[in-house]
Amino acid sequence: MCGPRNLPRASRMLQLFPGAVVAPVELAEAKGMVCIRTASASDVEDLSVYFAGLSTSSRNKRFMGARADLAVVAAECVAKADRPGHFTLLAEFRQEGQRNIIGETHYAYDAAARHGEFAISVADAFQRLGLGLQMMTAMETRAIDLGHEMIAGETARTNAEMRGLAKKAGFRDTGLGDWQSVHLAKHLSR
Ligand SMILES: CC(C)(COP(=O)(O)OP(=O)(O)OC[C@H]1O[C@@H](n2cnc3c(N)ncnc32)[C@H](O)[C@@H]1OP(=O)(O)O)[C@@H](O)C(=O)NCCC(=O)NCCS
Repeated sequence: MCGPRNLPRASRMLQLFPGAVVAPVELAEAKGMVCIRTASASDVEDLSVYFAGLSTSSRNKRFMGARADLAVVAAECVAKADRPGHFTLLAEFRQEGQRNIIGETHYAYDAAARHGEFAISVADAFQRLGLGLQMMTAMETRAIDLGHEMIAGETARTNAEMRGLAKKAGFRDTGLGDWQSVHLAKHLSR
């Protein structure tokens, strides 16, 4: 790897990965780098392929039900990124000149409810390596930069992974869920 040697490591890494929203991290387990960056229109096809590659279980959890129209979903995630208060972050795995999407989080601000809502997924082979938490942190940082004060999400009561991730990220159960789903929220502060 090359880069100006007098810059701090994080700054050098950001130079090597333009568009990254946080300093890229090395994934020692998989011998590659992970870059978290904002999605753009050119990502629709790769995002659709990523959604299709999720296991049925992960995909159903991500969308809280079955979705067949994955190209449409991917296009919506990216198209809405043009609106103020909406964005999609992608975790991209870079290894030997190849780039693959291995995670995504979509965020949308609800002006009436005065909070942002999110959904997230990590590719099955990369789960439980800390990526979910990293993407949540990057998403929260972006939401704070947008001036948002609260973030909320809903997940199935049976989704232990998401409930565990949300708890670790500092979310609390608002009690607004029902017998099937849990509503989680967090106040954002700098
Ligand atoms: C939920 C999800 C995004 C978590 O991503 P991840 O990269 O595996 O999460 P992390 O590795 O950052 O884990 C952070 C914490 O979440 C919790 N967690 C993650 N997976 C868990 C599991 N299978 N069971 C219980 N807790 C779990 C743990 O507290 C973990 O911290 P720890 O590893 O120190 O114990 C991932 O499991 C996923 O994509 N699931 C399918 C889609 C989905 O359910 N999306 C949520 C609905 S929007």
